[in-house]
Amino acid sequence: MKLLITGGAGFIGSNFILYWTKNHPKDFIINFDKLTYAGNLENLKSLEENPNYTFIKGDICNEQAVDKVMRGIDTVVHFAAESHVDRSIIKPSDFVVTNVLGTQVLLAAALRNNVGRFHHVSTDEVFGSLNFNDKSKFNERTQYNPRSPYSASKAGSDHLVNAYFHTYGLPITITNCSNNFGPYMFPEKFIPLAITNILEGKKVPVYGDGLYVRDWLYVMDHCRAIDLVLQKGRIGETYLVGGMTNAVSNIEVIKKILKIMGKNEDFIEHVKDRPGHDRRYAVDWSKIKNELGWEPEYSFDEWLEKTVQWYKENEKWWRDVKSGEYQTYYKEQYGKI
Ligand code: NAD
Ligand code: TYD
Repeated sequence: MKLLITGGAGFIGSNFILYWTKNHPKDFIINFDKLTYAGNLENLKSLEENPNYTFIKGDICNEQAVDKVMRGIDTVVHFAAESHVDRSIIKPSDFVVTNVLGTQVLLAAALRNNVGRFHHVSTDEVFGSLNFNDKSKFNERTQYNPRSPYSASKAGSDHLVNAYFHTYGLPITITNCSNNFGPYMFPEKFIPLAITNILEGKKVPVYGDGLYVRDWLYVMDHCRAIDLVLQKGRIGETYLVGGMTNAVSNIEVIKKILKIMGKNEDFIEHVKDRPGHDRRYAVDWSKIKNELGWEPEYSFDEWLEKTVQWYKENEKWWRDVKSGEYQTYYKEQYGKI
């Protein structure tokens, strides 16, 4: 089988390629990535000599380049996106271009080239915000209600993917997953930002009261879910994928990280809240469990500890990432902290 992975140099895409080459070593993989600030080929250094793996630098908005790379592809797994909510608040237009237009360009090329499956990787953020105190969860029937430019652009991409199924019969599947964590996560996101700031002796900015809840999932569980959907998922269907955490707030996440790292709570700095900050996400993943037998395997506490260890052992990786453009972004986002 020949797979086209878009955004394979980013956090989840590169973990997925590492997962796939290990579990399906006979398959051919093309990684098509623009290498924005978030793309990093260091993540895939171990595959440089692998004859079944090819990297092509390109933009999913470029029709010609996309059409060329789509030829002979059996399966597309579409990760490429602008993915950070705070950056979407600063510059929404990049999110509309890549996430909405880029997805449509890929869909059109997939249709022209008769690909066997177009799998779209999306987020639970398209469903909006849950209340802090109730027990409700998102499921496949939850109405879309995106509230940030990021989630609105991902919602737009989901609608286009579904439209290509209903209108043109393109064989699609979609997964909407909760917040991932693990190795190679860009340190603009909360968990790696916290770990690397603490390693640098800097404080951790916590937005508002810190009582915001995410449904954390170790990235390899997400990769396994996508694998199962590719193998056994029903065409035209959406599957929600979520974690094992139960109402763990950001403050509690930080306290866990500080404990693992042997530091005290002086590292916590409450800062101005994110505009439109979604209070809580929680995913009911019973459909993918009942239909495909998937459930999260990696416990949050155990793999948070392993993730801290990974950042400790890969200091050059995150120090390189935190130099250059990151510094400008950090100053704009956090000021002096
Ligand atoms: P990321 O920001 O780490 O990586 C995105 C990758 O896409 C980068 O390698 C970047 O270079 C590439 N890219 C960006 N614009 C491109 C373009 N125009 N053409 C080609 N490549 C381009 O993101 P991530 O956290 O790995 O997320 C991957 C996907 O999973 C996204 O679609 C995101 O919406 C979704 N998702 C992420 C999470 C999460 O917790 N990170 C959770 C659920 C869903
Ligand atoms: P993030 O990793 O940006 O993921 P998302 O907003 O897509 O869920 O943020 C996770 C949570 O952490 C979210 O509630 C916002 C919060 N947060 C902070 O408190 N401080 C920060 O510096 C960042 C980046 C996030």
